[in-house]
Amino acid sequence: MFACAAVLAAVWLFTLLFRTHRSPNFPPGPRPIPIFGNLLELDLENLCLFIGSRPAVVLHGFKAIKEALVNKGNDFSGRAQDLMVNHAIHPIAHAPGVVLADYSSSWRERRRFGLMTLRNYGLGKDSMEQRILGEVNTLIKLMEQSLGTSISPQLIFHSAASYIISQILFAQQYDYEHDFTKFFVGVFLEVSKIFNGRWGMWIHLMECVEVLISIRLFCFFQGAHEKHRKILSENKTTRVPQKPRHLIDCYLDELEKVGDGSSFSEDNLYSLLLDFHFAGTDTTANTLLTCFLYLMSYPEVQERCQKEIDEVLDGKDQVSFEDRHEMHYPQAVLHEVQRMADVAPLSVFHKVTRDTELMGFSIPKGTIIIPNLSSTLTEDGYWKDPHHFNPDNFLNDEGQFIKPENLIPFSAGPRTCLGENLARMELFLIAVTLLRRFRFIWPEDGGTPDLTPQFGTIQTPKPYRMKVQLRPTA
Ligand code: HEM
Repeated sequence: MFACAAVLAAVWLFTLLFRTHRSPNFPPGPRPIPIFGNLLELDLENLCLFIGSRPAVVLHGFKAIKEALVNKGNDFSGRAQDLMVNHAIHPIAHAPGVVLADYSSSWRERRRFGLMTLRNYGLGKDSMEQRILGEVNTLIKLMEQSLGTSISPQLIFHSAASYIISQILFAQQYDYEHDFTKFFVGVFLEVSKIFNGRWGMWIHLMECVEVLISIRLFCFFQGAHEKHRKILSENKTTRVPQKPRHLIDCYLDELEKVGDGSSFSEDNLYSLLLDFHFAGTDTTANTLLTCFLYLMSYPEVQERCQKEIDEVLDGKDQVSFEDRHEMHYPQAVLHEVQRMADVAPLSVFHKVTRDTELMGFSIPKGTIIIPNLSSTLTEDGYWKDPHHFNPDNFLNDEGQFIKPENLIPFSAGPRTCLGENLARMELFLIAVTLLRRFRFIWPEDGGTPDLTPQFGTIQTPKPYRMKVQLRPTA
């Protein structure tokens, strides 16, 4: 019996050893060990790594990322289907949405639908902009209730981001204190915890641990899925041609129009809801958290923003997204915040869709691609001051806002973030409105600000507290 088990184990190890074999002319990298791959020497400057037994190529630097994701977008836009997150989601959502779907015509169809829904959502009087500004009023009220005391902004910004995307998905009516909002924000924070930190990344590198962790993720996703299912059944019965039509309504319209063989199904819809809800909450909330952390740590930057905001908005009730063209310094600060936040350091992993080449190396079909977006943020030759927080990185000699092409927090190419415009609008309108009304101060008992983000799939600043004061001009 024991001998039999030993032989089986030896065969298994041998198979894994064989599976980590490098193909000819594959980019160089450290030698993987069975089961662990390159777990023990994780260095994202290496061109080639093994995620367990799966070969992966790290795209390091703007030139490599652009050549792969943009110039050869068709070859580099797949998604692996056997990573931890797939194990967790597959038993719940039987069909992919957008984020995890492989490169195919059905992914393209759903992506186009998502973009169109975002673009058309709330045209006219009820525009997306007005809805975001409505949500900022909730933030203002919450902050006014806490004047003079110190507050933890984490839940507030996550709730605001979740609320805004939920409006677009299914016209959520619940406030921040409602169990519904608390449930989703709680799930997103727990899921982020699993992915964040060095361990979060290492989990990806070990297939055996991956399966165990995916069971935990599964539990979180299942809860979210149940809630979305309930919303969908309620929406089916209360469907009215109201304006603006949210994503569920638009999707149900589409389901009625299309026949068999289409990529629109109820299963896809559940995945789409989870994709948008998650992708649209944690990223935006963590960028806002980074923004206010830096504004408190650099009070002179905060004051200069406020001065320019006051000048541009003089006599106006509220800011509009168009005003960004006049606000060079605040725009530079928000972009510098995105550079520092480095919210999705390794983007979402891609996969090669057919045998291809990159920078003279052969990359076989199925290779996992890790776009190291972080590597572009301090790259030599692109930034005036790459290693410090300095809004001058985004200002020309005349003090006008400029955006270097290698700031790509939303990634690039056919899979580039679908919510970029929405996220930019949220960041600008929320930050400018709050800065116009309040001064944000680091609490006396808050220790020294720690600006190093917690490394992970989605990076987040370490928890902090902030003090809010009304500005004399408010
Ligand atoms: C500051 C905020 C955000 C950042 C930094 C961010 C970043 C990213 C990144 C890096 C990707 C991966 C792209 C790739 O695979 O190459 C992505 C994908 C995606 N994001 Fe965002 N995102 C943000 C906000 C949002 C919002 C608000 C939404 C809501 C609609 C959203 C929806 C998506 C979707 C659906 C995808 C998948 C696109 C696809 O696979 O075709 N994101 N995002």
